[in-house]
Amino acid sequence: MYKKIILCAAVALSALTGCNNDGGNAVQREKNSFDEVLLSRRSIRSYDASKTISEAEVRELLKAVQEAPSWANQQPTKYYVAISKDKVEAVQNLVGENNKRNVAGAPVLIVSTFEKGKSGFFQGNQTNEIGDGWGAYDNGLSNCYLILKARAMGFDTLIMGMRESDSLRQVFNIPAEETVMAVISLGYRKAEPKQPQHRPFDDVVKFF
Ligand SMILES: Cc1cc2nc3c(=O)[nH]c(=O)nc-3n(C[C@H](O)[C@H](O)[C@H](O)COP(=O)(O)O)c2cc1C
Repeated sequence: MYKKIILCAAVALSALTGCNNDGGNAVQREKNSFDEVLLSRRSIRSYDASKTISEAEVRELLKAVQEAPSWANQQPTKYYVAISKDKVEAVQNLVGENNKRNVAGAPVLIVSTFEKGKSGFFQGNQTNEIGDGWGAYDNGLSNCYLILKARAMGFDTLIMGMRESDSLRQVFNIPAEETVMAVISLGYRKAEPKQPQHRPFDDVVKFF
């Protein structure tokens, strides 16, 4: 029984941290403790254009993202991965001028959407006042897994809320039943980012 639990935990952990046999990367992945992943993950706005990311690596990343929780396991989040040169260029042109400049060297751009009417709904009826906000919530959870797993794999990301959703819908043929959320760049940092200021802890956390 205990052996089975330990085996399950090990399998789940290796799925999330990517501790598989992949040569040089594995050494770095094992070094990245969860706290190191949290602390070194930053929004990156300057990418090393000489480094590429393979489709296999993106698959590994998004497979781990499937471990994210969602309302009644509805799994409403979907991803559209721009990895070919023409699709990456197309998405670069749909995130505004600042973002376009900042993610210019990122080899992969990922559009996240969620299917409406799933999370926050039961038998077609809205469960509470949040409605499809729960779909956005689940999308954010999945994207959080994405950016942390990406960091654990040695990659860097930038979540972009500034994006042209209608045009992205056309580029990827995204159906009307899905809400287009963020575009996320995936690549390798060229320079170390500034550390963001965080609000005083006691302003945002209250104990009772
Ligand atoms: C929903 C969302 C939308 C964002 N949109 C953009 C964006 O369009 N452009 C950008 O440069 N950063 C964007 N960011 C990144 C935030 O500015 C960044 O997370 C914040 O400043 C904290 O910095 P950190 O990610 O390095 O901790 C976005 C972040 C989130 C969560």
